[in-house]
Order: sequence, then structure tokens, then C-alpha cells
Amino acid sequence: MTTTDYQAAVPLAAISELHADAPCIRIGKSGLMKGLLAAALLFGPAAAWAQDKPAAPIGTCIDCHGANGIAIDPATPHLNGQPEALLINMIETFRGGARPPKVRIHREIPAADVAPLASHYSQQKAQRPKSATRPELVARGETVYQSRCADCHVDNGRDSDKEAPLVAAQDVGYLIAQTLAFKKGERKFPFLMDGSYRDLSDEDLTATAHFFAAQDQVAPQTGRRRRR
Ligand code: HEC
Ligand code: HEC
Repeated sequence: MTTTDYQAAVPLAAISELHADAPCIRIGKSGLMKGLLAAALLFGPAAAWAQDKPAAPIGTCIDCHGANGIAIDPATPHLNGQPEALLINMIETFRGGARPPKVRIHREIPAADVAPLASHYSQQKAQRPKSATRPELVARGETVYQSRCADCHVDNGRDSDKEAPLVAAQDVGYLIAQTLAFKKGERKFPFLMDGSYRDLSDEDLTATAHFFAAQDQVAPQTGRRRRR
């Protein structure tokens, strides 16, 4: 199912409502039977499918991010538990072109789908699988984190200030790639984050990725641990 399929379901349902009384007006009994049969054939399967349809247009997102936001492949971000407003920011950053996505679908998400998608993934509470991390890099990453990143990626990456995404328990391969993408200029630095990178080596930055990945995620039952 694609987001386009999802959108097609809306006009179908609307037409189905119109059909409830419209055919009776001008056609005879046999015409009515034919009409009803055609309607049953047309709308029967659609109605059954509409009931199975998830509340959000997650369509092909499932192939990579799973229905519950747990990434299927390495180097793909987990989306579960990321606050709704931050997910909206991320998707809008793709749509607006400031962050060129590796997968084109991100740029093409229809405006009307952004909020329902963000709402869906923000509410998922599955446990994230822990990436394999190296203890010496986690320790080095913590030092860099405390002096450079903690203002915005608050509480070891489990909370957020200045619209920074939650990065605790995120996939390590994804974090390494993104952390370095800012340095290489492949991803545009958000407000003020560039200053925090000054003079950091690739090893320092890779270490922060190990540090964030090694943190426990926000407790699945409670959502965000702390509000600011
Ligand atoms: C073919 C695999 C694939 C599909 C399909 C896909 N994504 Fe992604 N998504 C990725 C990858 C890989 C990244 C990270 C790399 C990039 O593009 O910047 C990503 C990044 C994201 C991010 C940013 C996460 C972050 O932490 O910054 C969001 C939000 C997102 N995807 C939402 C979606 C939604 C919503 C859909 C469905 C409309 C979707 N994706 C479909 C693979 C996919
Ligand atoms: C002034 C606030 C601020 C500081 C300091 C900061 N960040 Fe960020 N960070 C952000 C914001 C905002 C984003 C979201 C950017 C976007 O969506 O384009 C972000 C995104 C990220 C991401 C991508 C997360 C994702 O899910 O895609 C990583 C990784 C990251 N920061 C690492 C770091 C590291 C490492 C440091 C310290 C060296 C740091 N940040 C310091 C604000 C900050």
C-alpha cells in the first residue's frame, strides 16, 4: 500500500455514501439490482480493506521503519517515541529540501500526511534493539557530549531543547553517518549546532554516536522522561 492508495480511499468512501440513495431515483427494479450488485462488487472489498487500514498513512514507511517505528535495516533511524513536533520538523526538513533524503519518498510525503504520520510514530512504544557499541568510544563520547552537545540533546539524548531530536538508543550506524554528514556539509547544521562541532575530529564525533546509541531509550510506558 502506498500513501497514494491511502488517499484514494477517501473519495471512494465519499462516493459510497452518495450511492446509498442516488441509484433508486431514476432506474427500475432490475436496474437497481444491477446497481446494488455493482456497488457491492466495487465497495465490498474496499470497505473490508478500509477497516484493516491503519489510522495513519504509513504505507511504504513500514518497509524500512516498521509499523511500530523500529527500523528494519541497520543505518535506518528508529522513529518510535520521537516527539510529534520533532518528527514534523524532520519531515518538513526533507520536504523543504534543507536535508536531501537518501530515499526520495521523504521529499514527496504529501503535506496532509505529515501530522498523522508524526502522530502515529510518536505514539509507538516498542523497545528498541540495542546497537553494539564499544565501551572506550562510549566513554570518550560522553566527555565530548558533556562539553559540546548537552545543551540541546538534553539528558544524554533522551530529551530535547532547541528542537534537537531524541538520539538515545538510536541505531549506531545511522548516528555515525548523520553526525559526520553535518561535518561534511551533506546535511545543513541547525541553528547553533555548527559551533559545537569546532575542532572535533571524526573519531570524537563517532564516539558521540556510540555514547548516544548506548543510552537507554525513554521508558516506553511513560514517553518523555522529563519535560522542560
Ligand atoms: C526505503 C526505505 C525507507 C522508506 C520507504 C522510508 N524511509 Fe524514512 N528513512 C530511511 C532512511 C535510510 C533514513 C535516514 C537517511 C536519510 O534519508 O537521511 C530515513 C529517515 C527518516 C526520518 C528522519 C529520522 C531522523 O531521526 O532524523 C523520518 C522522520 C522518516 N524517515 C520518516 C519516514 C516516513 C514517514 C516514511 C513513509 C512515508 C518513510 N520514512 C519511508 C528509509 C526509509
Ligand atoms: C544548539 C543546539 C544543538 C547542539 C549544541 C547540538 N545539536 Fe545536534 N541537533 C540539533 C538540532 C536542532 C537537530 C535537528 C536538525 C535537523 O533536523 O536538521 C540536531 C540533529 C542532530 C543529529 C541527527 C539526529 C537525527 O535523528 O537525525 C545528530 C546525530 C546530532 N544532532 C548530533 C550532535 C552532536 C554529536 C552534538 C555535539 C557535538 C550536537 N548534535 C550538538 C541541535 C543541536
